[in-house]
Amino acid sequence: MIAVFKLLHVLLCLFVSLKLLALAQEENQFIYHGFTEANLLLNGIAKIHPNGLLELTNTSKQQIGHAFFPFPSQFNTSLTNNSQSLSFSTQFVFAMVPELPTLGGHGIAFTISPSVNFIGALGSQYFGIFNSTSNGLSSNHVLAVELDTIRSPDFEDINDNHVGIDVNNLTSIESAPVTYFSDEEKENKSLTLISGNMMHAWIDYDEVEKLLNVTVAPITSTKPTWPLLSTSLDLSSFMLDSMYVGFSSSTGAMASSQYILGWSFNKSGQAQSLDLSKLPPLPPKKKSRNKPYLRIVIPTITAIILLISISGAAYIIRRKKYEELREDWEQEYGPQRFSYKDLYKATKGFKDTELLGSGGFGVVYRGALPASNMQVAVKKVSHDSKQGVKEFVAEIVTMGRLRHRNLVQLLGYCRRKGELLLVYDYMPNGSLDKLLFRNDTPSLNWFRRYQILRGVASALLYLHEEWEQVVLHRDVKASNILLDADFHGRLGDFGLAKFHDRGANPHTTCVVGTVGYLAPEVTRTGRATTSSDVFAFGTLMLEMACGRKPIESEQSPEKMILVDWVLESWKRGDILGTCDPKLKGNYRVEEMELVLKLGLLCSFSTPGARPSMRQVVQYLDGNASLPEMPLDGASIGLMPVSHEASRDCTLSFHGSNDYSAYSLSSTDSILSYGR
Ligand SMILES: *[C@@H]1O[C@H](CO)[C@@H](O)[C@H](O)[C@H]1NC(C)=O
Ligand SMILES: *[C@@H]1O[C@H](CO)[C@@H](O)[C@H](O)[C@H]1NC(C)=O
Ligand SMILES: *[C@@H]1O[C@H](CO)[C@@H](O)[C@H](O)[C@H]1NC(C)=O
Ligand SMILES: *[C@@H]1O[C@H](CO)[C@@H](O)[C@H](O)[C@H]1NC(C)=O
Ligand SMILES: *[C@@H]1O[C@H](CO)[C@@H](O)[C@H](O)[C@H]1NC(C)=O
Ligand SMILES: *[C@@H]1O[C@H](CO)[C@@H](O)[C@H](O)[C@H]1NC(C)=O
Ligand SMILES: *[C@@H]1O[C@H](CO)[C@@H](O)[C@H](O)[C@H]1NC(C)=O
Ligand SMILES: *[C@@H]1O[C@H](CO)[C@@H](O)[C@H](O)[C@H]1NC(C)=O
Repeated sequence: MIAVFKLLHVLLCLFVSLKLLALAQEENQFIYHGFTEANLLLNGIAKIHPNGLLELTNTSKQQIGHAFFPFPSQFNTSLTNNSQSLSFSTQFVFAMVPELPTLGGHGIAFTISPSVNFIGALGSQYFGIFNSTSNGLSSNHVLAVELDTIRSPDFEDINDNHVGIDVNNLTSIESAPVTYFSDEEKENKSLTLISGNMMHAWIDYDEVEKLLNVTVAPITSTKPTWPLLSTSLDLSSFMLDSMYVGFSSSTGAMASSQYILGWSFNKSGQAQSLDLSKLPPLPPKKKSRNKPYLRIVIPTITAIILLISISGAAYIIRRKKYEELREDWEQEYGPQRFSYKDLYKATKGFKDTELLGSGGFGVVYRGALPASNMQVAVKKVSHDSKQGVKEFVAEIVTMGRLRHRNLVQLLGYCRRKGELLLVYDYMPNGSLDKLLFRNDTPSLNWFRRYQILRGVASALLYLHEEWEQVVLHRDVKASNILLDADFHGRLGDFGLAKFHDRGANPHTTCVVGTVGYLAPEVTRTGRATTSSDVFAFGTLMLEMACGRKPIESEQSPEKMILVDWVLESWKRGDILGTCDPKLKGNYRVEEMELVLKLGLLCSFSTPGARPSMRQVVQYLDGNASLPEMPLDGASIGLMPVSHEASRDCTLSFHGSNDYSAYSLSSTDSILSYGR
């Protein structure tokens, strides 16, 4: 009897261990053509279509999609120099179908992570993997290979079409524009991620060589001989033994539908090749509005007939290509209306080489208007709803009537289906934050800084008091100030946030603006006033004097919040100790002190205690002297807001950039009537 039990027990153990062995095998290698049977762990808006297609995101804005293999793979970090320990090989077929032909985001990251819990992670440039707090932490233990379609200056992205290798940090340790080596033509050919076409990616890591190779190619090509990236990397320095593999994907202000069609993964050898004939099909393409011209060889006999029909067709395609939306109510705005054809020609067909930047609410191109050859910046904003268009255009036209030498002039607009184009004066010297905070550009000297402050102050005074209506700027900050050819500061333009599709974006429910510049009463009530613009201008003054951002989490606690640090230094009698070291002491002491103290004065928590813009201009011009200020810390500063929460909200939303200055966030009307 006992013997029988023993036997049963042994059999049971054997069965269990066999089963476990089989499971372990499965965890370490798999191949899927379509994911119907895969039991992937899905999260966010990721879903699997009935035909097996894995959709990581659709074109909804500010979303995240995750799909991970359900069991962790075993990476043995203690077995060094053994090809079995950390080596892996994977390949997958993906496609990114942008919402509009040239506007898509954000990308897909093949991700190896110790956990599939990404709570708190952000979309946009954070890819659904990290947030601003967790990015860069060595406790992340995350390897990501990003296929990135937006240039995010925060993470030093090289362009808006690149592959990057990220270790715990979204600033890639190595990245490259997407190209592949064509074995037939023996040269590198470029590849556009958001072409909407299927593409193949291979990622291989060899533990002995300690090389991570990433290769991308069109679906029609075999694996190129040379990888796009071949990066020295020691995974054992940050990987854990048990890691989940999968995909993380996000959309931001711009969105693409992002798909995975097939995927194989292997820890014990080369990942098996995917059989392309077994992959599920992509959803049928929507009719493209920008049909390329077709090159057609015409047989001599039918030449005439074809010519006629082709010219007819070309006419229609041309019509389509330059098609725009015009409605009756727009007639009165005739002079501010640009034709799409002119803007298309001005920007060379919205060519990538003309791209000045992306982020905020759209992308900005440089252009030269065909008739006058005048340099302009054209901002493309996508929108899906008709709602509010009329009011918005009315406001834009009103804004176009504002004239001040320190405002970026809005020249006009154009409308197409799903797209709004705003035309501005071109500012050759980019935005102030780039010159102020970057170490690789020559720093702005004090004379120019002071000129810029005086200019921007006079522009704000004009908006607040000198125009026919009170105009609130609502987002005064360094990245919203552009520099013209003579380095005069010009305040960038207004009003895109309210236009942005609110329903699709959970982040717009937070107070819009930028933390560090947001007056405390705005964070409480959500209502902006001229005093809240003054508060933001105060922050800008401190930034210009100190050459740093209002909140720098990497600083020591006493320096982290700029206004607190300046105030404390003043109390200690060392206010000049806070000024920008990049100035190397080359500044006028009385101007520097004035800017720092006036910056603090504008930062009073009670709106009534702040000066008006008219007074600020008088102080800066030397026509009045600063009043005595009580050095009472409680009344100055940004509190009360929870920094982290609101900072993430704005960071993810603004996607700050050179030309985010051409955007501005505001949740309600930019004009306050009835002054
Ligand atoms: C995207 O997917 C989500 C969740 O499945 C859905 O609620 C939303 O309507 C979709 N958006 C679009 C643009 O299809
Ligand atoms: C890793 O390899 C070491 C050395 O062979 C072994 O002792 C250990 O059990 C392995 N760990 C795992 C998780 O397989
Ligand atoms: C692993 O290999 C490298 C070079 O191939 C060698 O320098 C190193 O000492 C080896 N490490 C171990 C633990 O064997
Ligand atoms: C950032 O992400 C971590 C988890 O990775 C989470 O614990 C933390 O709360 C998040 N921070 C914010 C401000 O959401
Ligand atoms: C991320 O990496 C970049 C480049 O190596 C570095 O400058 C940055 O400080 C890192 N971020 C964090 C939070 O460690
Ligand atoms: C192709 O690109 C790779 C990686 O970027 C580079 O190392 C190689 O020199 C290029 N080859 C040619 C023929 O341009
Ligand atoms: C990575 O690419 C290099 C060639 O650039 C090659 O020598 C190496 O074997 C490749 N490693 C893997 C793991 O594919
Ligand atoms: C993994 O590699 C082994 C050894 O090369 C091979 O036999 C197996 O088919 C591969 N499995 C997959 C799913 O790629």
